[in-house]
Amino acid sequence: MLLTTNCSRLVLVAILALMPVMNLAAQERLTMESLKEADYMRGKQAFQGRCSACHTLGDDSGDIAGPNLWGVFDRVAGSKEGFGFSDTLVAADFEWTPDQLDAWLADPRGYLPGNIMGIPEPVPAGDRAPLISFMLIETGAVDWPRPENAFSAAQKDKGKPPAERFPSFWNHLMFNTTRYRWEDTNTGDEFKFEVYFQSNGMVASSDKKIKGFWRIDERDFFCYALQGLKVSPVGHMVECFPVAAMAIPRFAEELWTSKPQPGVNLHGGMVPGRPDWAATGEGPALR
Ligand code: HEC
Repeated sequence: MLLTTNCSRLVLVAILALMPVMNLAAQERLTMESLKEADYMRGKQAFQGRCSACHTLGDDSGDIAGPNLWGVFDRVAGSKEGFGFSDTLVAADFEWTPDQLDAWLADPRGYLPGNIMGIPEPVPAGDRAPLISFMLIETGAVDWPRPENAFSAAQKDKGKPPAERFPSFWNHLMFNTTRYRWEDTNTGDEFKFEVYFQSNGMVASSDKKIKGFWRIDERDFFCYALQGLKVSPVGHMVECFPVAAMAIPRFAEELWTSKPQPGVNLHGGMVPGRPDWAATGEGPALR
């Protein structure tokens, strides 16, 4: 009897003694060792599907809707020159570590209230370590080797038509409707239009006056130009985004925002299907 009591007391003491250690482990969920072991391809896919519409990673890339993230680790939050951060990020007084980023991506609205990074949902727990590991590699924070073949497959196919190199992107963009909301922040005006990217390199629109064309450049950016927009001072715009940003097809009225001209927010989204006349531009002439 005495022995049992002593024994359970001992167990209790042992648990109490371990508790701070367990807390610490919970705070530092992501060790460099565990991140190094994470699945690069899963991280890449998570980044492409959830982040690349707004962020580039390389040191020679620019800001899109979000800041370029080269060198983001160990940099003070909201301090990258030239990007218009929210007051929240500017006031934030910490350096980005894997754990800080993990906490933010787990709770995009609650972790830094007032931030303007509009991601629709938290990144699922299972994707966060691979995503952060991928970002450490691609933003120059570590020199861990990339797994073989990670990029080489798409690179080696450079000569092939885009429909074969990026089938998921292709089917998404060429067979569905891209919907825009043009918002002039100076006048408060807004207008909406739909465009239909065509496999022959042209762009048709629900608005007869709007026409355009597109191509994929050597960086694998999808670049397109639209003309005939009812906006001043210029009725046209040119915009590029990484093909990878559209690698995972998603439908929503508004999926991304860009700034094609000063004072303009252009909200873009995808809706399923498109009218027959806009098919894919392979055969019949466009109207
Ligand atoms: C809809 C566009 C959008 C998407 C998608 C998006 N971000 Fe952002 N991101 C932003 C904006 C805008 C900011 C600036 C936020 C602010 O100033 O409050 C930002 C800021 C950041 C910062 C802070 C940079 C710094 O220098 O302090 C990091 C890190 C970041 N994003 C990572 C990610 C990751 C990882 C994903 C994918 C899970 C992601 N973002 C998805 C728009 C986006």
